[in-house]
Amino acid sequence: MNEPIKKRLKKKFAQEPKWAEDFSVEAADDQQVSRRDFIRYLSLVSFGLFSGTVGVLLRTLWDKENPAKAVTKGVKLIEKSDIDIGESYTFKIPGTDYPGILVRLGEDKFVAYGQKCSHLQAPVMWKKEERKFHCPCHKGAFSPDTGDVLYGPPERPLPQLKLTIVEDVVYFDGIEKGRLV
Ligand code: FES
Repeated sequence: MNEPIKKRLKKKFAQEPKWAEDFSVEAADDQQVSRRDFIRYLSLVSFGLFSGTVGVLLRTLWDKENPAKAVTKGVKLIEKSDIDIGESYTFKIPGTDYPGILVRLGEDKFVAYGQKCSHLQAPVMWKKEERKFHCPCHKGAFSPDTGDVLYGPPERPLPQLKLTIVEDVVYFDGIEKGRLV
């Protein structure tokens, strides 16, 4: 009757059952069990933190590789009264670090494009007198009406941004055409 529990278990199961290793029946081993539980808990927390960090890193890389995924629509860019006809305004495309360039072509005509040249990513400049976007890097040029290449080494148009005008405010509303790369 007073036979120690371990001996009784061994007798019953021929050898000590596996669960008895993790859940000791000896009062002296209580400390051991809680230490083991603590290590398990610590491992779970470490794994959770590691997974979270990897997730954030992947998300950051994904957004960097795909800036279009990160854009925030419906963001105010400028008020009409803050820009004269024929002038340009540069900004960061909302939600990204990608530069954009807006030009007021007429009373109610605004256009905007990604500012990175589709050749080798140099920033294009607005040339008001020549009515074109000019890339000083290799002398490429783009149309302000469509973003298409006018001449030079670029082979693709500038990515066109969608704008919405409500009352006197110009809002960025996403990517109209092309890709931010
Ligand atoms: S980077 Fe613009 S023309 Fe080469």
